[in-house]
Amino acid sequence: MRLGTPNSPTAVRVMLLGSGELGKEVVIELQRLGCEVIAVDRYEGAPAQQVAHRGHVIAMTDAGALRALVERERPHLIVPEIEAIATDELARIEADGLATVIPTARAAQLTMNREGIRRLAAEELGLPTSAYAFASTEAELAKAAAEVTGFPCFVKPVMSSSGKGQSYVESADGIAAAWRYALEGGRVEQPRVIVEGRVDFDFEITQLTVRSLRDGAVETSFCAPIGHRQVKGDYVESWQPQAMSEAALAKSRAIARAVTDALGGQGLFGVELFVKGDDVWFSEVSPRPHDTGLVTLVTQYQSEFCIHARAILGLPVDVTQREPGASAVIYGGMDAQGIAFDGVAEALSVPGADIRLFGKPESFERRRMGVALARAEDVDQARERAREAAGRVKPAAR
Ligand SMILES: Nc1ncnc2c1ncn2[C@@H]1O[C@H](COP(=O)(O)OP(=O)(O)O)[C@@H](O)[C@H]1O
Ligand SMILES: [Mg+2]
Repeated sequence: MRLGTPNSPTAVRVMLLGSGELGKEVVIELQRLGCEVIAVDRYEGAPAQQVAHRGHVIAMTDAGALRALVERERPHLIVPEIEAIATDELARIEADGLATVIPTARAAQLTMNREGIRRLAAEELGLPTSAYAFASTEAELAKAAAEVTGFPCFVKPVMSSSGKGQSYVESADGIAAAWRYALEGGRVEQPRVIVEGRVDFDFEITQLTVRSLRDGAVETSFCAPIGHRQVKGDYVESWQPQAMSEAALAKSRAIARAVTDALGGQGLFGVELFVKGDDVWFSEVSPRPHDTGLVTLVTQYQSEFCIHARAILGLPVDVTQREPGASAVIYGGMDAQGIAFDGVAEALSVPGADIRLFGKPESFERRRMGVALARAEDVDQARERAREAAGRVKPAAR
């Protein structure tokens, strides 16, 4: 793909579907290469829209609205940043040759639904996963938990992300509540959940995996493994590198390669894996930068966002890690519009620390409003510094 000048006939036009904090960093990287960027979200003033050439507000699950916008803007590349999109329409857009969907429309279709990606990974590719079953009624769920996964287990709507609608169920008594909670948190009218047996892992990682072009051929490369800690299905801190055995690392990369080969296209993927000793289980995959990968803003020569931008444009990438580092999430801590942040100078006086404030117009108690980052001699020190810096930032109503 030949790069050009924005707002001119040579422009490479890139449309982001979803304009959150991860998209914002991708847009900044695309801007650095002179792309023309159009950022779409369901609300006005989303983070990536603030740094794009133009923004649009539509319901991205509305196939007609999505088609109309693509026909009007004529992007060369469509870059999904979230899962909740009319992915069948993306497949038609791709089939009609209107635009290239990153990494592919099929990858967006498979990964927006836990059933699609789990069946691909476990049943087609034969990769190790937790025991699992799908259910469309409470009775089916109760039976699946009793017969397939046992307890404890996790119940998740097949269409949901960031832990929404997800329950950890310790015994049969918890099934009814988990079913109700999944119905509230799921994205669709037709209720469907996955129930997964708990994997008793030592730690979990994100294996950032890149499909990029070198001399016209697709090349797969791997970033250093990222460790992370999740609370209620949402990431609170991450670090790179996660120490692990040679055998576990080799298995992680073999799994990541198999999944990303099957999804195809170009771009960066976040492959989530559970690790216990030398054993590795596939959990899920994002065909785009991963929230736990925010740490790469300070640990790698090229962040995951820079790598994604280059890979989708057909350019070579460098996945080399520079030094150990960590990230810690900064939450809104309140429900309010247009909040302020005190303590930023104090946070930045932590050695090796940096921060990003996402600029989200509205804060919620548990909404991710920013992230603290830290470089250090080793991961333990980096985690301490990132947590310290995040703790010094105080959201304020005014
Ligand atoms: N089968 C499982 N065994 C152990 N932990 C799990 C399992 N499923 C989910 N978890 C925990 O919950 C987190 C969120 O689950 P995940 O499937 O990644 O949902 P989401 O799509 O919302 O990120 C995981 O990162 C892990 O910490
Ligand atoms: Mg996840």
